[in-house]
Parts: sequence; C-alpha cells; structure tokens
Amino acid sequence: MATPAPASRPAPAVRPATAGDCPGAAAMVRRAFALQVAPGLPPEGEATFRAIADARALEERLATGSRAWVAVAEDGRVVGYAEREGTHLYLLFVHPEHQRRGIARRLLAAAVAGIPGATVTVHATAYALPAYTRLGFRVTGPAFTRGGLTATPMALHP
Ligand SMILES: CC(C)(COP(=O)(O)OP(=O)(O)OC[C@H]1O[C@@H](n2cnc3c(N)ncnc32)[C@H](O)[C@@H]1OP(=O)(O)O)[C@@H](O)C(=O)NCCC(=O)NCCS
Repeated sequence: MATPAPASRPAPAVRPATAGDCPGAAAMVRRAFALQVAPGLPPEGEATFRAIADARALEERLATGSRAWVAVAEDGRVVGYAEREGTHLYLLFVHPEHQRRGIARRLLAAAVAGIPGATVTVHATAYALPAYTRLGFRVTGPAFTRGGLTATPMALHP
C-alpha cells in the first residue's frame, strides 16, 4: 500500500515529555538540526549543539526543573519537541517530514499553557525566524553568536 500523503496522516499527539522520550527526541532534534540548521555553521556550532541536544542532557534538564513536550506519531516516533526553562523556550524542533502541519504551534501552546500572562523568550535560528514571526514572536535585539551558534533574540508578549 502507498504511504499516505502527509496531510492525510493523523495529527500526532502532543503531551508532556518523560525521561523515556529523551533518546527519540534527541535523535529527531539532531536530525532536523543537521539538515536545516547546521549547513553553513562552523564545526564549533555543531559541537555546541550536540552537547545541548544529547539525550542525557535532555534527561538531566528534565530532572532539574525544565519542562518539555513531545509530539508523537501514531507509530510512537517522536516527531516534535519543545523545552521551556522558566519563561525561555528552546529546542523547538519538528521532524522535517512533519513540518508545516501546525505541530510547532501546538507544542508552543502546550509550553505556554503553564505560564499564563508571561512574556516568553526564544533565541531563534535563522531557519526558524519566519515561523516564530508567524507564531507571534517579535525580534527584541540583534543576532548574536555564542559557541559557534548564531541566534536572534525574540519575545512573545501575552
Ligand atoms: C521552526 C519549526 C519548529 C516550525 O515547525 P512547524 O511544525 O513546521 O510549524 P507550524 O506548522 O506549527 O507553523 C507555525 C507557523 O509558522 C509558519 N511556518 C512554519 N515553517 C515556516 C517556514 N519555514 N517559513 C515561513 N513560515 C513558516 C506556518 O505557516 C505557521 O503559520 P500560519 O499558521 O500563520 O500559517 C520547524 O521548521 C523546525 O523544526 N525547524 C528546524 C529547527 C529549528 O530551527 N528550530 C528552532 C530552534 S530555535
């Protein structure tokens, strides 16, 4: 049987992440990063990102106060991920084959539901800046480079 077109697939379920989700989430995040963010970055940026997106690093942050959400496809694979520490959002990633289906919007809604009225910040990659703009974020300062990764500070006001 042919693989169904993306639009006809059931929407992935969005729920809080558990420690058991971390290996699958890290693998998906690193794959999307390699395809869509890493091209053009210096090796230092890739190394910095590998450390941030390591499965054990995800697990450790979950155990020490960060909150995270996953989007899980019917077959159990993690196809979306978002983390929030306080009011700062990071590692919002959607599997390249599942992008443009509203998954980031749903992950963002889950991430901000626990902090009503708060201004949410993010450091956006160049790739994600147009999507964050569509999600309501506004640029709050100039792009900066840290550890070989370049990002633009943005904020979402309630
Ligand atoms: C950025 C990213 C998370 C968006 O995920 P997504 O599930 O495709 O986003 P959604 O489908 O929920 O789209 C949200 C809005 O952004 C828009 N959008 C999504 N991707 C876009 C793109 N590449 N260019 C322009 N707009 C985009 C959508 O049209 C939608 O707006 P609308 O509802 O007004 O039409 C995804 O592209 C990704 O994982 N990118 C690579 C990793 C990355 O750079 N992450 C950010 C780390 S800071």
